[in-house]
Amino acid sequence: MILDGISPSAPIGVFDSGLGGLTVVRQIREVLPHESILYIADQAHVPYGGRPLEEVKGFAIDISEYLISAGCKTLVMACNISSAVSLKIVQNLHPDIPILGVILPGAAAAVAVAKNGKIGVLATQGTVLSGAYTKAFTEIDAKIEVHEIACPQFVPLVESDRCDTLEALVAAQTYLEPLIAAGVDTVVLGCTHYPFLLTTLRKIAPGLCYIDPSVATVQVLAHILENGKLLNQAGGNTSCILTTTGDVCQYESQICRFLPPSIRFDSVQKAEKFAGIP
Ligand code: DGL
Repeated sequence: MILDGISPSAPIGVFDSGLGGLTVVRQIREVLPHESILYIADQAHVPYGGRPLEEVKGFAIDISEYLISAGCKTLVMACNISSAVSLKIVQNLHPDIPILGVILPGAAAAVAVAKNGKIGVLATQGTVLSGAYTKAFTEIDAKIEVHEIACPQFVPLVESDRCDTLEALVAAQTYLEPLIAAGVDTVVLGCTHYPFLLTTLRKIAPGLCYIDPSVATVQVLAHILENGKLLNQAGGNTSCILTTTGDVCQYESQICRFLPPSIRFDSVQKAEKFAGIP
C-alpha cells in the first residue's frame, strides 16, 4: 500500500485525555525513533472515563480533526474510550489517512498470550459501558471468556501522581479481586493511564500477565507506515512536541516524572488551537 499526498516527514498525531497517552508516545519513541510526534493531552477535560459517551466522542473528533488539519500523516488515538466511541467515525471521515485505536491491538495481544481462555480487562467506566473490548474479543475468538472491570479511581490517582500510594494499592486490590476470583490469567490494561500503575497491580497479583496495548498498537503503526512507504527518511530532523489543554507548568513537571529520561522531547506547549478548549 502506497499512500499518495501524505508527507513521510510529517508528524504522527497522538492524543489522550491526559498523561496516559505518554505510554504510547514512549513506545513510538523507542520503536520509531526517526518519527516526529505531535501529542495532545486533553487535561482540561480529564477524566473522560465517567463522562457521557457522546461528550467524549465530541472531544475525540475535535482533537482528531485538529491533528489532521495540523498536517499529521497518521493518527493514534492513545485513549481507549476515544477509540471505543470515535475511531470508526474518524476513520470514515478520513479514509485516506491511517488512523489507529488501541483496543483491537490490545485485545489481539491478550489472545496471543492467554493460556486458559479467560481474559480480564481493567478500563474506565465509559470503555466498559461501550462494550468495545468484549466486541473486539468476540471478533478475534468468540470462545474467549471476557471479564471487564471499571476502575474509576485509577485515572485521578495517576493524574495526581499517586501511583505508589496505599490508596492505589487498595483500589488495585478492589478491582483485581473479581478477576482473580474469575480465574483469568491475562489482564488487559484497557486505559492508557494504567501501565503507570503496573508496579502496584503486580504487588496484588504478581502471577497475572498484564497487557499494555501500546506495545501492540505501535507494532501495527510501524507495519502500516512501512507498508505505506510513510516512514520518515529525513534522518535526525525529528521533533516531539507535547501539548496540553490544561496547565502547562504542571504538565511539564508531570512529564518529567512519567517519561523516562531516555525519551527525548522538544517542547511542552499549550494546545489552544482547536474547538472545545474552555
Ligand atoms: N487514558 C484514557 C483511556 O485510555 C482515558 C482515561 C480517562 O480520562 O478517564 O481510556
